[in-house]
Amino acid sequence: MRRPLVIGNWKMHGTRKSNLDLIAQIQVGLNSNQNCDVAVCVPFVAIPEASTAVANSSLGLGSQNIANAEQGAYTGEVSASMLAEYQCKYALVGHSERRQIYLENDELVASRYDFAIKGGLIPVLCIGETDDEREQGKTFDVVEKQLSAVIEHYGVESLSKAVLAYEPVWAIGTGKTATPEQAQEVHAFIRQLIAKQNAAIAENLIILYGGSVKPDNAKELFGQADIDGGLIGGASLQADSFLAIVNAA
Ligand code: 13P
Repeated sequence: MRRPLVIGNWKMHGTRKSNLDLIAQIQVGLNSNQNCDVAVCVPFVAIPEASTAVANSSLGLGSQNIANAEQGAYTGEVSASMLAEYQCKYALVGHSERRQIYLENDELVASRYDFAIKGGLIPVLCIGETDDEREQGKTFDVVEKQLSAVIEHYGVESLSKAVLAYEPVWAIGTGKTATPEQAQEVHAFIRQLIAKQNAAIAENLIILYGGSVKPDNAKELFGQADIDGGLIGGASLQADSFLAIVNAA
């Protein structure tokens, strides 16, 4: 049985005060016997204070990226051991904004994924097609290629220490959610692809959906057989909408 997971991706939002307020509000609303894991991926500079705020609570902490090296001359990067010192549990890798704006390619993303695992963090590998790619009928090819980069380098077994997030780029921040059927179709494809190499890993792998998840569409999305929770952008910036999505999971 896969335990649902909901992660808030705050992206580049918030102030020191608003971040702490949001964490406190989320914690008040989290049920101690929650049947779902919940975490927030906050900006790097917010991690130290967030780490103190979430200590001894059921709210997990994560980063929005992670270095593809352990230490050294990597200006601007933050390593797994640095993040682990602040009890980060998750690290997003390969978010479409990293791929599109900062030109991170599959090899770099795969290396970040590997360093997260080696450092004891759970990489949340984000994959998904653009609008054009979907129009051209390339959705399955794109997600297969993005996933293969990781499997070829680090083996299908590495997925037992990872989480996947299917985020169609056209649905991110656009209010244009994939329908539950569209999302399920891709989730099932991903799981079957992995099952060809290792059925047990495919069965246990958590695959999140991300892209305009809101309180009013979360339940239907999370009700699909292969959707195990969500990676939430805009709606994770308000405690009430984030908690409503958590409750849907
Ligand atoms: P939105 O929920 O704002 O569409 O963002 C999704 C996302 O990119 C999460 O990583």
